[in-house]
Amino acid sequence: MIKYPLTKVVEGQTEITVPDVEAFRKSPTSFPPSDAPVFYNKKMEINRDFALAILRIYLQKKKTKDEITYCEPMAGSGIRSIRVANELPSLQVLMNDRNPQAVKLIKENIKKLKLKKHTEVFEDDANELMLRLRASGRKIDIIDLDPFGSPSPFTDATAQTIGKNGLLAVTSTDMATMCGVYPKACIRKYASKPIHSFIAHELAVRMMLGFTAIALARHGKSTVPIFAHSTEHFIRAYIFVEKGITKAKNAMKNLGFVAHCTNCYNLETANGLINTLAKQCPHCGEIRQIGGPIWLGKMYDKDYVCALENELVQNTIAYGTAKKMLKIVSLVKEENEAEISSEKSHFYFDLHRIADKLNVPSPKMVTVITLLQKSGFIAFRTHIRTNSIKTDAPIEKVVEAIKQAIKD
Ligand SMILES: C[S@@+](CC[C@H](N)C(=O)[O-])C[C@H]1O[C@@H](n2cnc3c(N)ncnc32)[C@H](O)[C@@H]1O
Ligand SMILES: [Zn+2]
Repeated sequence: MIKYPLTKVVEGQTEITVPDVEAFRKSPTSFPPSDAPVFYNKKMEINRDFALAILRIYLQKKKTKDEITYCEPMAGSGIRSIRVANELPSLQVLMNDRNPQAVKLIKENIKKLKLKKHTEVFEDDANELMLRLRASGRKIDIIDLDPFGSPSPFTDATAQTIGKNGLLAVTSTDMATMCGVYPKACIRKYASKPIHSFIAHELAVRMMLGFTAIALARHGKSTVPIFAHSTEHFIRAYIFVEKGITKAKNAMKNLGFVAHCTNCYNLETANGLINTLAKQCPHCGEIRQIGGPIWLGKMYDKDYVCALENELVQNTIAYGTAKKMLKIVSLVKEENEAEISSEKSHFYFDLHRIADKLNVPSPKMVTVITLLQKSGFIAFRTHIRTNSIKTDAPIEKVVEAIKQAIKD
């Protein structure tokens, strides 16, 4: 019997018992999920909803009769894995947490929901568990890495353990570090230099993809991002992992650097493991900030993005946050169009910031996009930041379009 305060929640199509985190709140400003004996964060429902939706699509595409194994090395209350086990019963679900109280709660929920047959629960260190699974020769098809803060300490064991044609999902809530508030910590954890500016969130997603790709390549595996998003206090990426030295080598070619001028907002990227971007801005002459290495390849797979939209429309009932998810996916579709229409991936320009700098009112985003598209550039919205556009137009053309949009 668990003696601390518990409550029942319904997420997706699963009713599960979780800690009543508000009962543990230590102070008005504290973060109750961390105060509770077992971690449960209601705000991450959208993260779990996306995970379930992508898993459904992955399984549809996989078309195999072999057993598929899912592993969540840091399961907390178990809400994610228990949803997976309950809603996708074809999977063998492995869940782990080093907190014995978490394991006890997970086991109670498994018993209540009668999921014993296709679940296994471990009370171990995440890295130890993954490496033990690898050493045993067991094929792990899907790993969902959802740690406190940074995924960095777990990336290497994950890269070793994930199987051929596997699906790797990674969360980071280490946003202050990855967005450049603590640049030294960022370099230490991710071997990548952040930029503290309005492009920081996309840079963080690309940094997470970049250091994951490096870890996978080290173990002869490639990185094919299929979906990624930056939502509130976290970032998340889904990677299809293939095996093969050539594929791994090719994935490494997607690494590179970004130069961002915080004076005129000019942006430039260059692939390579050595930075070749000049420090001085070619547009205004100011010293630019250089970030990286980061992933400069595609972040989305068109088939997955379309299937995801379809899944959310057809199966809305399975996702409590479907409305919010659809909003993100519709913007990701635009970003994906930008990726498809151009050889290069593009960061975004914040139109409000540029208008502020020009001392003019903020233009209508849709007008700027139309003007740029009429001039032959690609121009799309991004889910990562409001009032921002992804375009292959240089800064001077964006400025021209902003001025024109105001006149119009
Ligand atoms: C953010 S919570 C997980 C939340 C969960 N994935 C979800 O969707 O609700 C992180 C969990 O990782 C566990 N943890 C932290 N470090 C660990 C380690 N080295 N090995 C195993 N578990 C760990 C903590 O006990 C905590 O329950
Ligand atoms: Zn400049």
